Amino acid sequence: MGAPPRPCQLLLLLGVFLLLLYLSSRHLPKLSLAACVRGRHRCPWLGETLPKEEEPGPASAPAGTPTPPLPLWGEEFDIRQLRRAFSTSLSPRGEILLREYLHGWRQLLKFMEALGTAFGLISRETESKISIMEQHQEGPHSLHYHTVQSMVKFELASGLVGFQSLPAHQPPSGCRTLLRLHRALKWLELFLHKLGTSQKDEKSSRMCAEAYRVALAPYHSWWVQQAVALAFLAMPSRQELYHIIVRGEKPAAGAIVLTTVESLSRVYNVTQEVYSAHGMLELP
Ligand SMILES: *[C@@H]1O[C@H](CO)[C@@H](O)[C@H](O)[C@H]1NC(C)=O
Repeated sequence: MGAPPRPCQLLLLLGVFLLLLYLSSRHLPKLSLAACVRGRHRCPWLGETLPKEEEPGPASAPAGTPTPPLPLWGEEFDIRQLRRAFSTSLSPRGEILLREYLHGWRQLLKFMEALGTAFGLISRETESKISIMEQHQEGPHSLHYHTVQSMVKFELASGLVGFQSLPAHQPPSGCRTLLRLHRALKWLELFLHKLGTSQKDEKSSRMCAEAYRVALAPYHSWWVQQAVALAFLAMPSRQELYHIIVRGEKPAAGAIVLTTVESLSRVYNVTQEVYSAHGMLELP
């Protein structure tokens, strides 16, 4: 991080980045639709017409979920929904309701997508974790996947957690999967907190990188870290982010962001306690 990188290092990094981008986009035909700067949204107001996909093969959409035309604005990141979801995910008894938690994550995913296609690596990883959790919720043991606490209790009692390694012939455990979301939640919490308390001239890329360094980088391989470092360079400015987050209501923007951060933080802290109490903060 200290000395300025030499040109050949930069070239190598760029190569790595493009390779990762290429590899990850190959797995997701959807990405080709992400023609708009704001992530996955169609942008007719920019005069864009998206090309029709050559073959809307069955692989591009899971069976049973026909893809209706997206409502233009309903699909946008909505900070109110985000805050509501995380606030209501914490029950009066201090349990984390998974349905609401995942609903909140769906909003966070939209926010990540708004950070730019360069964050695709992280957001696709996150999306797959959300999907795994949703599958657990709809699976044969759905009753146990009502709250984080009941999930932990169930998976511990049934030996499903996988403390040493990933169980070979089972879907990844809910505990392990949620831990990944949990770590990413810290990153977004820190980033949004920095954003909410930032001055006009501060750089969003710096805030985001700093939050990443603290919360997520320790868990990512060198390769991913390089790709993410490049993604920061291409992310929207602070002003653009505020536009995405609060749209019209500028005066209270910082406060809106900070109350949201608090609702994320509360849920994060409870999850952290549960995981720490069971020695599960380092699951493979
Ligand atoms: C969560 O925990 C951190 C560290 O212990 C603390 O600083 C923060 O205030 C807590 N957040 C909430 C909303 O309680």
